[in-house]
Amino acid sequence: MAEREEPVRLAIFISGRGSNMKTLVQACLDEGFAKPVLILSNSYSAAGLEWATENDLPIAAIDHRAYDDRESFEKDVQDTLELHNVEFIALAGFMRVLTPWFTDQWEGRMINIHPSLLPKYPGLHTHKRAIEAGDKEAGCSVHWVTAGVDEGAVIDQERVEIMPNDTPDALAERVLEREHFLYPRALQKAISDFLVRELQNEAD
Ligand code: GAR
Repeated sequence: MAEREEPVRLAIFISGRGSNMKTLVQACLDEGFAKPVLILSNSYSAAGLEWATENDLPIAAIDHRAYDDRESFEKDVQDTLELHNVEFIALAGFMRVLTPWFTDQWEGRMINIHPSLLPKYPGLHTHKRAIEAGDKEAGCSVHWVTAGVDEGAVIDQERVEIMPNDTPDALAERVLEREHFLYPRALQKAISDFLVRELQNEAD
């Protein structure tokens, strides 16, 4: 990994239980390649916020329902990120579509985990769609975030066999186990790429 004195300042965005967030925080503690400086949710009731507070991580809850449009919500999100000097964002079960206003300024510095083998099944109900299509395998992907929903370049994937008589819930559970392996590894790779680009920009 490219060297720098301070770890990259990471924000993790969640909307719910935050199991992926926990694996990312643990990996940052174990490996030291990034420092989680903010856990941000678009919902006050996200269970992951409680865990973050118990673990002394700074949190912000910005309820998108309080805003008339997506950009005003995102402007408050952006102000909060600036307040915490965030350099890199990992979306971890963040269930809000972001506009180009936001994604363009974070391009190359924001990644997402999605529960399908992209480019298959962007959007919702990925496990049900994979089973109904008769696929033999499912999985999860970590990708760079761009303006198109779940369209950015894939960084890494994990695969899971679809069993006869699988249900979406059973499959989701097995895929989630793989997500917890995949996301820390992919985050480390993405941050390494980001640092290499940053050093190249400084040298230019
Ligand atoms: C995960 O399965 C993640 O891949 C998915 O939400 C779940 C969040 O679980 N994300 C998406 O569907 C994004 N489009 P978690 O809160 O326990 O990490």
